[in-house]
Amino acid sequence: MTNTIVPVSAPRAATPGATLGVRRLPSTGLADGALADRFDRPMRDLRISITDRCNFRCVYCMPKAVFGRDYAFLDRDELLSFEEITRIARIAAAHGVEKLRLTGGEPLLRRGVDELVAMLAELRTPDGRPLEIALTTNGSALAVKAASLKQAGLIRVTVSLDSLDDERFQAMNDVRFPVSRVLDGIDAAHDAGLGPIKLNMVVKRGLNDDEIVPMARHFRGTPYTLRFIEYMDVGTSNGWSLDEVVPSAEIVERISADMPLEPLGATAPGETATRWRYTDGGGEIGLISSVTNAFCGTCNRARISTEGKLFTCLFADEGHDLRALLRGGIDDEGLSRAMAGIWGARDDRYSEIRSTLTPELRAARAKIEMSYIGG
Ligand code: GTP
Ligand code: 5AD
Ligand code: SF4
Ligand code: SF4
Repeated sequence: MTNTIVPVSAPRAATPGATLGVRRLPSTGLADGALADRFDRPMRDLRISITDRCNFRCVYCMPKAVFGRDYAFLDRDELLSFEEITRIARIAAAHGVEKLRLTGGEPLLRRGVDELVAMLAELRTPDGRPLEIALTTNGSALAVKAASLKQAGLIRVTVSLDSLDDERFQAMNDVRFPVSRVLDGIDAAHDAGLGPIKLNMVVKRGLNDDEIVPMARHFRGTPYTLRFIEYMDVGTSNGWSLDEVVPSAEIVERISADMPLEPLGATAPGETATRWRYTDGGGEIGLISSVTNAFCGTCNRARISTEGKLFTCLFADEGHDLRALLRGGIDDEGLSRAMAGIWGARDDRYSEIRSTLTPELRAARAKIEMSYIGG
């Protein structure tokens, strides 16, 4: 992968007339303050991958054939340190980021994760509010770690859960991890106060789509919000094909046939999920439709990879090497300008253009792996 260092420059003004329904933010030309990219999208959400390792080998994310015994994961000194992560997050907060999400790989595998959460919990927005700190996990270590994460300042967790059927679950994670331990972890996180908890189910046709309705029924009326994710063509190792995507409209139809649903409005600008609720008051579900109904128009998410590259899209082929800047001794002002310059130049909208690409063109794109950049 090529390392790109973007010239240190002030944020570029958003392209006139390119507004995609996003409130225009003041573009001060200074290196701090809120940013707008070329489509006037702010930077609100920073997702930080803190390890590229995972104890699962989900067939659609880290297939064993690719991520086997010989796979070269990053060495410890290649990872951003907690101080480096906190420094980037502090500058991002000055630029308008209000939410931090720790991801992986599996973020709970990173030693000392509580300490990092505590450091991030000290950060403030320009008007003095703490940031919302969330974490996406496979749930395998939650039963052990939930209480200490809460104590460190973590606000909430999102847990990946693709099946309730133990045999199926174990086959999907491909390391024979039992579903009951993840369910215990989810309850432990709830008891520790790490809510509201969202559960993410990636739906792949022929693999687990027969569990859409059973999953919905199981979590109806619980404190947990189940979200169905359209299977995406992230990275290059999952061999994606459009036939394997179950469109969200079909998911809503299948659930509604049993348990009628009605649409709800969005709660936050740039949200990934559209929300639906059971008409009889059984709670809500979410649909993340990045394939059939892309949400790039309001995408306010920046991502930091495990080794400190800033990616402006989940489907980017290149990141901007912030680690090289940090380790080269750049001061805060310089780092701030660099991040502003990168965001100002951003024009990503991969999910919106996906359908215009031929399978050959899609395959030719060197996209980064989800396990390296996190969801
Ligand atoms: P909440 O703040 O809890 O709503 O979280 P979120 O929906 O922003 O984040 P989460 O990590 O739970 O994302 C859920 C899933 O949505 C991810 O695992 C991805 O599959 C998908 N997703 C998240 N962000 C993006 C994005 O920017 N683009 C695309 N195409 N998919 C995304
Ligand atoms: N499509 C959609 N979501 C995916 N995830 C991993 N791979 C894919 C994919 N191909 C999700 C996981 C988890 C988060 C880290 O990313 O289910 O919720
Ligand atoms: Fe599965 Fe998440 Fe690990 Fe990928 S990072 S293998 S989706 S648990
Ligand atoms: Fe954002 Fe890229 Fe996802 Fe579109 S495809 S929503 S621009 S991360």
